[in-house]
Amino acid sequence: MEVTAAGNRRHVGLIGEQRPGSAVLFGMTSDPPLVGRDGALACLRAAIGRLAGGRGGAVWIEGGPGLGKTELLAHALRDVPARIEVRSGPPDRGRAAGDRPLLLVADDLHRAGAAAVARWSRLHRRVRTSALLLVTAVRPVPECDGAYARAAACGAETVRLGPLADGDATELACLLGHDPHVVGTAVRDAGGNPAYLRMLAHGRAAPAAPLRALVADHLSTLPRRAREMLVLLAAAPAGITAAELAARTHRPVPEVRAAMHEAVDGAILTSAGGVVRFRHPIVRRVLRMPVTPS
Ligand SMILES: Nc1ncnc2c1ncn2[C@@H]1O[C@H](COP(=O)(O)OP(=O)(O)OP(=O)(O)O)[C@@H](O)[C@H]1O
Ligand SMILES: [Mg+2]
Repeated sequence: MEVTAAGNRRHVGLIGEQRPGSAVLFGMTSDPPLVGRDGALACLRAAIGRLAGGRGGAVWIEGGPGLGKTELLAHALRDVPARIEVRSGPPDRGRAAGDRPLLLVADDLHRAGAAAVARWSRLHRRVRTSALLLVTAVRPVPECDGAYARAAACGAETVRLGPLADGDATELACLLGHDPHVVGTAVRDAGGNPAYLRMLAHGRAAPAAPLRALVADHLSTLPRRAREMLVLLAAAPAGITAAELAARTHRPVPEVRAAMHEAVDGAILTSAGGVVRFRHPIVRRVLRMPVTPS
């Protein structure tokens, strides 16, 4: 399993590959504070509190790329009582009963591979009968739907992270020290996505290469046909339907529609009345940037 969290009260950090825009890893500080996620944080803290009292459980955190799943985990794991053991991923086989309460965290489950996802989902059978808390953070990908169904059947609480509300995004932009002249534009362009908000501190003058890398990472969990469709969509006039995009690009309507569904399910597009739009306008802008040879 790839990125996961481990730590105790004094040394909470996330171990794993650092990708563009990902949360600060080891030795994370509270700079800036977690904005706009009070309910989600309270849910995690309550589950951790129950675990401290010997009750297991599961929390499933789902949200699009860059919406703050890892950041939320990092904040929740900061004040885990010392008697709780915190580890990443599935435990060693045969862990003895009667050990300290165990908190297992799987961040980025969507990157874990089918076998690890299946093992993780099976673990949920144990949460009702042991002092085991399973916390999952995952992008919305169909590969993890089965695992989610299993977790939910075992009583997992679901936390869905959506874009930050405008007020929270504005607060975060100010905390991040954005130039007051660019706050409004940055909030609009980021569309509630804290990862983009961080990148847009310089407004439209934000450097292209890191932005491109971030968008590429965010689209990486979509099927290839959805990624290809997004490039075509970005080049088309805003507010277009599947049929219009299909006609423009000489592609079969069902294929374009299916790709759009994938991008909507992956939290990259929104859809209303048959019209699709980029959820975070900066993504469209980045996909429209001319590719310059390096
Ligand atoms: N609520 C928040 N308040 C302040 N900063 C945040 C918040 N959410 C996320 N961030 C910042 O935004 C960036 C992206 O957050 P994070 O890496 O947690 O997203 P993610 O959902 O885990 O993305 P991915 O799907 O790529 O793993 C990080 O720099 C993080 O510190
Ligand atoms: Mg993450």
